Amino acid sequence: MDKFIIQGGHKLHGEVTISGAKNALLALMPASLLAKGKYVFSNAPKLGDISTMSKLLETMGVETSHKNSELSLDTTNLNKYEAPYEHVKKMRASIYVLGPLLSRYGYAKVSLPGGCAWGPRPVNLHIEGMRKLGAEINLEEGYIIASAKRLVGTKIVFDVSSVGATGNILMAAVLAKGTTVIENAALEPEITALAKFLNTMGAKISGIGTTHLEIEGVDDLKPCSVSTIPDRIEAATFLCAVAISGGEVVLKNVLPEHFSAVLTKLEECGVAFLLKDDTIKITSDGKIQPVNVTTSVFPGFPTDVQAQWIALMTKSSGTAYIEDKIYLDRFTHVAELVRLGADITMKDNVAIVKGVKTLKGAKVMSTDLRASASLILAGLAGEGTTEVLRVYHLDRGYDAIEKKLQKLGAKIERVAGKEF
Ligand code: EPZ
Repeated sequence: MDKFIIQGGHKLHGEVTISGAKNALLALMPASLLAKGKYVFSNAPKLGDISTMSKLLETMGVETSHKNSELSLDTTNLNKYEAPYEHVKKMRASIYVLGPLLSRYGYAKVSLPGGCAWGPRPVNLHIEGMRKLGAEINLEEGYIIASAKRLVGTKIVFDVSSVGATGNILMAAVLAKGTTVIENAALEPEITALAKFLNTMGAKISGIGTTHLEIEGVDDLKPCSVSTIPDRIEAATFLCAVAISGGEVVLKNVLPEHFSAVLTKLEECGVAFLLKDDTIKITSDGKIQPVNVTTSVFPGFPTDVQAQWIALMTKSSGTAYIEDKIYLDRFTHVAELVRLGADITMKDNVAIVKGVKTLKGAKVMSTDLRASASLILAGLAGEGTTEVLRVYHLDRGYDAIEKKLQKLGAKIERVAGKEF
């Protein structure tokens, strides 16, 4: 298990290119199950989660190859319709294969995802939605066993806005008989990207970019290719890194409208921005005003930037309140940040962060993807040496983050290998 060793106190300068969006690609890859043939996804980052999804598809007979940032899939010889526990337990997004398998082949056996570092991650909305489309679903020995002669379009109203359930139902409805309406559909850019991709394949989805989606079922779709949208969460993570470290950095390959809530909050902190085409220049003197955040669904402040925001607020000149309303228990990073000298108290799903003058380097443990990112941010701004252990969590969602940070002047090294 690799670790990072970070020497804090260095400002960041230069340019960084943001990679393609993990959460867009994790939805696009299963869409390839909807039509046999060859697909090419460009701007595809080399991430742990992408390789997990590729391995899962390979167990189904899909050929995959990932060269540079081009991911090719060939679903011509698809011959298995199952997602076994050993894959699903590694990555919850594996459940995205349920909709396309059910819709195209009328059968799917998908392991229920376990919990994750911060608690239960239910999939009831996925299951209920498939049942409403006419699937017969049984839960046996930890597996979802689903079958349907042909799914039939219907109206589905989500009580909770769910990225995954919206994506899964979209991929089920495109080949259903008749029209499906989804009310309270997720607006996240990754779902918009999926819907546009499905239409390129020949689907008939309208209302894209709104919470009311209409899908007119078609009889078949065709394989095609697309470039992955930029990763808004990676962009937000780098913006927070510059804000907490101080310096001036240009982020390339970004779509600012995908994280405007984060930009607004960063401006309130006192950092300056210059937006030009697909780049953002951020300038910070490292002095941070305290700014409260409550996470919400897109276009609100994303829960995937909550941990990074808490790290930033540990160095603010006052007290900030950070509430996560999407995942009430997504705070495993708080105890680790306190080990670095942060002053944080929890009150239910609200972190009360009192800014401190200095964070002191220490050994800290990654617990999940975005928690690890917050520990790196704190290490960059801390005094002395910070060791972030178990960075495989980070490698799930960031493509060679230490190399990108090194190029910006951060003192961060990866130490490979043994159990730390
Ligand atoms: C996606 O997860 C992202 N993952 C997550 O990013 C992100 O945190 C999350 O959306 C919220 O934005 C991918 O896209 C692969 P949800 P997903 O269904 O789809 C509840 C990262 O760091 N819910 O939108 O699993 C759920 O408990 C990852 O890149 C149900 O109750 O999230 C949560 O409170 C972490 N029943 C809320 O909805 C369900 O059936 C939002 O979850 C499904 C969800």
